[in-house]
Amino acid sequence: MVDLLLGLQWGDEGKGKIVDVLTKDYDIIARFQGGPNAGHTLEFDGIKHVLHTIPSGIFHKNAMNVVGNGVVIDPVIFKKELDNLEQFQIDFVAKLLISRKAHLILPTHRLLDAASETAKGKAKIGSTLKGIGPTYMDKTGRNGMRVGDLEFTDWKEKYRALADKHEAMIAYYDVDIQYNLDELEAEFFEGVETLKKLTFIDSEQYIFDAMAAGKKILAEGAQGSLLDIDFGTYPFVTSSNTTAAGACTGLGVAPGKIGSVLGIFKAYTTRVGSGPFPTELFDDAGATMGRVGNEFGATTGRPRRCGWLDLVALKYAVQINGVTELMMMKADVLSGFDTIKVCTAYHYKGEQITHLPYNIEAEYVTPVYTELKGWKEDLTKLSKAEELPAALNAYIAYLEKELNVPIKIVSVGPDRLQTILR
Ligand code: GDP
Ligand code: IMO
Ligand code: MG
Repeated sequence: MVDLLLGLQWGDEGKGKIVDVLTKDYDIIARFQGGPNAGHTLEFDGIKHVLHTIPSGIFHKNAMNVVGNGVVIDPVIFKKELDNLEQFQIDFVAKLLISRKAHLILPTHRLLDAASETAKGKAKIGSTLKGIGPTYMDKTGRNGMRVGDLEFTDWKEKYRALADKHEAMIAYYDVDIQYNLDELEAEFFEGVETLKKLTFIDSEQYIFDAMAAGKKILAEGAQGSLLDIDFGTYPFVTSSNTTAAGACTGLGVAPGKIGSVLGIFKAYTTRVGSGPFPTELFDDAGATMGRVGNEFGATTGRPRRCGWLDLVALKYAVQINGVTELMMMKADVLSGFDTIKVCTAYHYKGEQITHLPYNIEAEYVTPVYTELKGWKEDLTKLSKAEELPAALNAYIAYLEKELNVPIKIVSVGPDRLQTILR
């Protein structure tokens, strides 16, 4: 069976931290979608690591790490990630396996991302500019380059033909994008040489064999359900299926082989980039969440927009993914608020609704809040469920009742050890 770990909001829920915490119980950690737009943070032994493409199980000796076919890989960023980890003496050839069917992000994909965003002006998606959209466009358009192509001698010709086409497309946008392709290509070819030193596999076969041998596998999601290409706040989404179904296509796992679906959410909500966010706060409360939660993007450094928990959106994510267990992150950030608000419905076209409508722009949707009592205690030193303050327990019980799924982990700080099991 393959368990899934998925972000239920707009990303940055704390997936990296929890995958790292859970890896001791698994034999394989596998990424199934997204690419270096992801920034997954892990903290232990006083060191903070941010991973973009490498699965978050990499620091554990017991687990293999797989980059699945649904992922898009930028060899340049990948090389930097490996270089950053050099001091930790990880045997990447043995521990990190790359699907031959994963697609490659070319330097011109990144340029196309920038050209597209510039051309959109105010309507821009707020992309991380890592080339994600253009790479998935080439994948579905059947023009992409895959990791497996690098094992054939003609890969540079394929690269050239695609890069030339991209240059013509960049010119079409008619925007001022400055670049030196020779430099970008030199960096790309260097990255490819590093990538080629790793082990390429037919990852679906590897997963079939691992399942047959009774291995425990955890699929690590990137982004969050509300950034899903189909079910997110389109067009302000990413270009892959971030929801449970994405693990089936992104790893080759049949639906019947999915075990537990672990859903992660913050005790409040954040979003980075453009797009609707009904519970977004523009007052002191939002600023406090941002400051205490250190809410800056792990990939781009941009400040994250903050707001109260949106239960309407969270219920939707629980349903879309079939979540069986919940994990509540960053509970410590809410310490000190007199009241905690939760959005339980939307005012929409003159009525009150409790489902996610087609459009959740502020012009159509106003959040309806329920208020709960806050708590003052510092949670960051706590380690047992019995120590949690009564008001936090009431918040947890309220959410469990509304969502009808148990909250099994409460996270009270960024460190591996600041994790409370219930
Ligand atoms: P991911 O993309 O889902 O892996 O999440 P990110 O790493 O982008 O963002 C989560 C941020 O919150 C990181 O800086 C984490 O170190 C931090 N973090 C995770 N869990 C907690 C928590 O319970 N409390 C606090 N204060 N920070 C946390
Ligand atoms: P992790 O895995 C938060 C957002 C971008 C932008 C939109 C599209 O760390 O949770 P893209 O680069 O995919 O074209 O950007 O999606 N976005 C994320 N937001 N966390 C992420 O990943 C994100 N990956 C993309 O900010 O709004
Ligand atoms: Mg992140």
